[in-house]
Amino acid sequence: MKLQLYVPDGRYDPWIEGFAEALPEAECQTWEDSRGKPADYAVVWRPPVEMLRGRTDLKAVFNLGAGVDGILRLRDEAPDALPAGVPIVRLDDAGMAAQMAEYVTHAVLRYFRKLDAYEAQERAGHWKFLKPHRRADFTIGVMGVGTLGTHIARTLAGFGFPVRGWSRTARAIEGVSGFYGDAGQAPFLNGLRVLVNVLPLTPQTENILNAGLFARLAQGAYVINVARGQHLVEEDLVAAVQSGQLAGATLDVFRTEPLPEDHPFWQEPRITVTPHISALTLREDSIAQIAGKIRALRAGQPIAGVVDLQRGY
Ligand code: NAP
Ligand code: GLV
Repeated sequence: MKLQLYVPDGRYDPWIEGFAEALPEAECQTWEDSRGKPADYAVVWRPPVEMLRGRTDLKAVFNLGAGVDGILRLRDEAPDALPAGVPIVRLDDAGMAAQMAEYVTHAVLRYFRKLDAYEAQERAGHWKFLKPHRRADFTIGVMGVGTLGTHIARTLAGFGFPVRGWSRTARAIEGVSGFYGDAGQAPFLNGLRVLVNVLPLTPQTENILNAGLFARLAQGAYVINVARGQHLVEEDLVAAVQSGQLAGATLDVFRTEPLPEDHPFWQEPRITVTPHISALTLREDSIAQIAGKIRALRAGQPIAGVVDLQRGY
């Protein structure tokens, strides 16, 4: 059995060593070294279009992340970019849900407990009490309650916040009010104090975080985007923060990454920026998950995380 690997940073050794340990029956090669040769499985993150186009040898393509937009976007470069009939399989949690819940909870609590304001006061040498927010008034909405969003929503509900979740189809999560579909979007957004975006990037969700959506939130709401930069209309966010419609935002993902040096987000103190780290791909967990799925496929068993190409996630 042959595995072909592609990672954009070219740091292959730990992946090859990891697969050698977890799946010793496989011969694992980099795409650069095995280009043009057949393989059974491809394991990739943001591959170039030449890697998957016209491949009839592959049995599955494993994506080294939860979001598959980096693979599906190849169809814009060439309509036949994805190998016909070959399943594309995303990471399903693999240690990301806990990281995402930590990141989002930190951002929510920092805003809820006014720690951002206290940090600014500390820098200015001010000792001053600020009136706290009331938890019961602090409704948080999670857009996208799949693998990651469900864990985030449950974690926030565990702190006693009123939590709403929004999905494409109906989902029942204990302790979380469920909304779904286009019809459920307005009541979901209505009056939220914090909005968390953890949707996949699809044609339906691109630019979803825009001025019209911000206007439905409570005045002075807070936005947390941990999904993709293309969900957010960046100028609308800056304008909403400057007008006071939003109190601020914590952003982990951007249209251009790394965020350009002259980007206005760097200069706006109410916008907190992190470099796409809210849920890292954990190598050991990911290798263990992919090795388990390859074994299941070889045994003719079904696996979780197969992407629906029509749906786009
Ligand atoms: P998932 O399990 O596929 O969940 C996606 C959720 O979004 C589902 O609840 C789905 O609804 C909902 N959804 C999709 N399209 C929708 C639409 N048009 N309207 C309403 N809801 C919609 O995905 P996941 O594993 O949680 O990952 C989510 C995203 O997080 C990834 O795609 C990726 O972009 C991002 N991510 C970011 C990082 C980072 O470090 N910043 C790390 C990992 C992942 P249904 O439940 O009805 O299907
Ligand atoms: C990271 O952004 C992922 O999609 O896993």
